Amino acid sequence: MRKKIVAGNWKCNTNLQEGIELAKKVNTLVTSMAATDVVVVLGTPFTHLAKIVESVNTARIGIAAQNCAAEAKGAFTGEISAEMIKSTGADYVILGHSERREYYAETSEVLNRKISLAIENGLTPIYCCGEPLRIRETGTQNAFVKNQLEETICNLSPDDFRKLIIAYEPIWAIGTGKTATSEQAQEIHAFIRSVIAEKFGNEIAEDVSILYGGSCNAKNAKELFANKDVDGGLIGGASLKVEDFIQIINGF
Ligand code: PGA
Repeated sequence: MRKKIVAGNWKCNTNLQEGIELAKKVNTLVTSMAATDVVVVLGTPFTHLAKIVESVNTARIGIAAQNCAAEAKGAFTGEISAEMIKSTGADYVILGHSERREYYAETSEVLNRKISLAIENGLTPIYCCGEPLRIRETGTQNAFVKNQLEETICNLSPDDFRKLIIAYEPIWAIGTGKTATSEQAQEIHAFIRSVIAEKFGNEIAEDVSILYGGSCNAKNAKELFANKDVDGGLIGGASLKVEDFIQIINGF
């Protein structure tokens, strides 16, 4: 069954104390909401994971890391493995975010290893894809995103593919205040689902959640989430503001 998901991506923000406070506030508001079928996830810095898992009701709020190592273990100073993340009680990991691809030269090859390790260790990958402005301007975004999918998640077995969530994030909309229109979002989400259907069949394509990311906020979430192929959001800036984040969850 396709899930509705609102996932926060805190990026490199909040120290430990601020992060715990933010998570507790989100927890209070989410746990006081009427029962909802929306899955709420908080993507926190590595240093916060274990503490935040203890600070929230994990039956209502899932916790995500924002990256993991491309190696299982060993002499890789400074790296955090998928197994380490899982051992904190976190259940998700954001992978392939455009900031990682761009600033840390994360290639499809590296991403493939990360995705496999995440799945092997029982983490749900939130796999990010999306085109830069120059590609959108030439109207070739579908081919660009299809290539990203083909180089990474299309190589998975159907069983492993079922374990992941996709986030479409046009790079030109991330942190810019410029959101894709509802039509643009629906169009490319439907396209992504068709690529998945071609590779894995209709049933699996219908089940996968495809989140929209890129300046999704308290004002535009409702309209974006109303689209048939938009199953929620990956929220950066607005996830750091409790009231906005809650309003986004209420966008469904
Ligand atoms: P934004 O970030 O909501 O601040 O645009 C989204 C993301 O990068 O995940």
